[in-house]
Amino acid sequence: MSGYQGPMRVLSGIQPSGGMHLGNYLGAIRKFVDLQHEYECYYCVVDMHAITTWQDPAKLRDQTFHIAASYLAAGVDPKVATIFHQSGVRAHAELAWIFNCVARLGWLDRMTQFKDKAGKDKERASVGLYTYPVLQAADILVYKATHVPVGEDQKQHLELSRDIAAKFNHDFKALDFLPLPEPLIKGPGARIMSLRDGTAKMSKSDPSENACVFLTDEPDVIARKIKKAKTDPNPLPEAAAGLAVRPEAANLVGIYAALSGKSDDEVLAEFGGQGFGVFKPALADLVVEKIAPIGAELKRLEADPDFLQGVLADGAERAAAIADPTIAKVKEIVGFLV
Ligand code: AMP
Ligand code: TRP
Repeated sequence: MSGYQGPMRVLSGIQPSGGMHLGNYLGAIRKFVDLQHEYECYYCVVDMHAITTWQDPAKLRDQTFHIAASYLAAGVDPKVATIFHQSGVRAHAELAWIFNCVARLGWLDRMTQFKDKAGKDKERASVGLYTYPVLQAADILVYKATHVPVGEDQKQHLELSRDIAAKFNHDFKALDFLPLPEPLIKGPGARIMSLRDGTAKMSKSDPSENACVFLTDEPDVIARKIKKAKTDPNPLPEAAAGLAVRPEAANLVGIYAALSGKSDDEVLAEFGGQGFGVFKPALADLVVEKIAPIGAELKRLEADPDFLQGVLADGAERAAAIADPTIAKVKEIVGFLV
């Protein structure tokens, strides 16, 4: 991490653009819970990122509460970690503009998430969607965060954040002013795939409602989705090497492993040689056991938006206390009047 000497800090964010699912939980939120006692943690609901694609204003507020409630329901303690909404801390937008002038067009042209989200008609995508990873870099670096827990799909954006930090430090001769943030991606659950297609990532925007287990799904719905999950006709292999060319089987075993804290090999030591008729009910029971209580707590919290609003407002104040001095120093470094 270069010669950066500042404190270790964690920042991550999730967009309020739809329901939280098993992939978000295993790839991101669960890590947030584990990290909160090790590091100073900032967990953001990135509403400014959400509006890079159209969001109905009447729904955006509820979606923001949904993400905040997911953090809490999964076990993030708002007294330990800081939970806040991005638009509640102005310094994100201010730093993003300055970073827009540091990042190069060529860097952004390579971002695969933009290509995926913009689709064929990129002329009609918002400018915000294009410069989205620059705002993400500002989210991280305005707290001088050193570690960023995310799923595998965010790897490229994290590399861009490092490039922006390094170029800022270099161009403004501010040696080691910004850290080069490290992604925390590894571990089971970094890439959960669709239940309908083992080669596509589980995503809230999947058109098939059976592709995705939402945290708020009732136990019978969870069980039905697992039962209907696409598989192949063969029994499970005896060891993980046998999953290499079986994406659907690999995904289901991976979910079981991630939720049970076992390795793929340990799961297969138990279920290898058995068919999905045996494995799927065991998996459904495990997913219900681990996810349904979180879903129930999430719904209970969502029913109290005033409480959630209070958590976010309090968090935004604490977050601003860290972000404001950073942006003040950045302005001075850039040569703005202070
Ligand atoms: P998103 O829902 O795309 O805003 O993602 C929020 C967080 O969940 C990010 O850290 C993603 O990397 C992570 N994430 C999203 N989908 C998956 C998935 N299918 N598997 C693992 N992590 C995921
Ligand atoms: N781009 C991330 C996603 O789609 C969300 C995000 C925004 C984020 N800002 C962040 C993640 C800062 C980590 C750190 O999931």
